[in-house]
Amino acid sequence: LIYSYAAMFVAYLIGSLSFAVIVSKLMRLPDPRTYGSNNPGATNVLRSGSKKAAALTLLLDALKGYVPTALVSYYAADFGLVDATIAFVGVAAFLGHLYPVFFKFKGGKGVATALGVLLAYEPMLGVATLIVWVLVAAMFRYSSLAAIIASVFAPFFTLMFFDRPVVALAVTIMSLMLIWRHWRNIMNLVAGKESKLGAKPDESG
Ligand code: G3P
Repeated sequence: LIYSYAAMFVAYLIGSLSFAVIVSKLMRLPDPRTYGSNNPGATNVLRSGSKKAAALTLLLDALKGYVPTALVSYYAADFGLVDATIAFVGVAAFLGHLYPVFFKFKGGKGVATALGVLLAYEPMLGVATLIVWVLVAAMFRYSSLAAIIASVFAPFFTLMFFDRPVVALAVTIMSLMLIWRHWRNIMNLVAGKESKLGAKPDESG
């Protein structure tokens, strides 16, 4: 049990690395918390105009979900860890991104990190959910809408294709929190004010 809690704690710390802020600082770009949606995430970093910084943010934020979850899955048998530990290490990394201890607990919405976690749980689960995101994003050009729709699908994919009830519970928790973190985006979508993918902060949708 001590290993399980230690793994979750470390995953939370790793998740707390807000790469949108870190990458922007290293690349001498403005702090993403000061423009656009003010969200420290890849979508908002893209509004700075730097595709490279946005791609790097996406990759690193996904990796911080993927790496701890995949490592724990890999060593689960050696340390006698149950599926719940794997499931909740993923949730811990996700919570780190939402409430980062290093950034006054003001984090992002969890899309990239959740993707990394899903890929680590089951590669096909991550891929299927990513496909939903890509299709919705390609059709409507809203990153937020793509994330919300993909989050609705993810728990069903888990229940339908994998016999891992605790993982399904973890995916459901992450989906609900992710959708809840998008409430402002939902308001903007309903009002027709949400900015489209890649649009600069000053351009409206
Ligand atoms: O990654 C979060 C995305 O779904 C929405 O981001 O900056 O448009 O609120 P943003």
